[in-house]
Amino acid sequence: MKTIVVNGPCRLQGEVTVSGAKNAAVAILPATLLVNGKCHLENVPNISDIRAYIQILESLGSKIEYITDNELIIDNSNIKTTKAPYDLTSKFRASYYLLGALLGRFGTAQISLPGGCNIGARPIDQHIRAFEALGSNVIVKHGNVYANSKGLKAAPIFFDVVTVGATINAILAATLAEGVTVIENCAKEPHVVDVANFLNSVGAKIKGAGTDVIRVTGVKALKQTSSYAVIPDQIEAGTFMVAAAATRGDVLIKNCIPRHLEPITAKLTQSGAIVEEFEDSIRVSMDSRPSPVNIKTLPYPGFPTDMQPQFATYLALSTGSSMIVENIWESRFQYTAELIKMGAKISYHDRTAMITGVSELYGSPVTSLDLRAGAAMIIAGLMANGYTEIQDIKHIERGYENIVEKFKQLGADISYSESEE
Ligand code: EPU
Repeated sequence: MKTIVVNGPCRLQGEVTVSGAKNAAVAILPATLLVNGKCHLENVPNISDIRAYIQILESLGSKIEYITDNELIIDNSNIKTTKAPYDLTSKFRASYYLLGALLGRFGTAQISLPGGCNIGARPIDQHIRAFEALGSNVIVKHGNVYANSKGLKAAPIFFDVVTVGATINAILAATLAEGVTVIENCAKEPHVVDVANFLNSVGAKIKGAGTDVIRVTGVKALKQTSSYAVIPDQIEAGTFMVAAAATRGDVLIKNCIPRHLEPITAKLTQSGAIVEEFEDSIRVSMDSRPSPVNIKTLPYPGFPTDMQPQFATYLALSTGSSMIVENIWESRFQYTAELIKMGAKISYHDRTAMITGVSELYGSPVTSLDLRAGAAMIIAGLMANGYTEIQDIKHIERGYENIVEKFKQLGADISYSESEE
């Protein structure tokens, strides 16, 4: 069993460089399936979700050439099947993008119902409605999703909820469809914009990404790309920002887009941290316990749900009571039980958590219940007195590249530990 061990407390200090965005890369990789040729991608994070995606693409017939750990060429000129293997696609959520991409280029797709972190019900009804609007037949049966069409045609799409996945999937399916598809009530997350920018770089005609109305004018075919660099990871940057403040440290976070981090900057500043923004980096410093702040998670540009566990952990040592309302995922407070083991005072009911700041956390064995909860456990370990051993770290490795090395570089006493059991 591999665990991460943190010996706290520790004051983070120095510089760290953020990797490419997981949630952009897991959409751009399948988006390359729309190109009958080669795509050259840079700044792709070397994380287990990406390695799993590469395996899926290879099983479909993609040829992948790694130039470095973060740069690759994907050749999709010889796709042999549109049926993705059940065991690979059932493991993670972003496999749903295969539906939009394969359907868009080949008119047929089959994947398992997507899996992913256990943070609440994760329906795909909005994805299916978008595909149906464009003229596809979609059947969900025996744990699989089957989509077929005799040629997609543009149609108006209006989402009932703001959803990142369905917005991107609708764009993927509409890119080669005949006519102009107008998609309304879209998600505005940076990774939605990044997928649209990638597709436009290979000849798609997508306008409005980053607003709530996106117009996709179908084109007949896409062309090969010289090179496209994935944007920096907003949530990894946010995780280091919060870790810097939580350890009363001073950290320069490089390769990030400060505009994407504004909701996090606003809440850190409100809690007493000093945040300085530069062109493509951000510096966070803090020298006291944080003041309590209230947070509501919302779609972008609101406070991201994927930063909620890390911020709640930071507030565990605040000087008062904070309230967090989780509006996106209904079961995203399970990790609070782990923080309570470390001495935190947190209670929650339904979608609201109350955090009463304490003056000290102590190290303890804890479990990483999902990707962001795992990152929160590392922050908790850095804040606590003594040893914190984090189990189930496979969740953390899904989305953070070299996280142990990066924290070590900032002065943390953190390492992997391996035992027989
Ligand atoms: N929803 C529906 N029907 C759908 C799709 C979504 O009701 O067909 C609901 C969901 O139940 C949820 C809300 O809409 O309440 C938003 O879901 P969304 O579709 O935006 O989430 P997602 O695309 O499945 C992505 C990220 C998540 C992140 C959310 C919200 C990827 C691969 N995942 O998920 O990231 O929490 O957007 O920003 O992009 C993470 O990285 O740790 C992570 C969980």
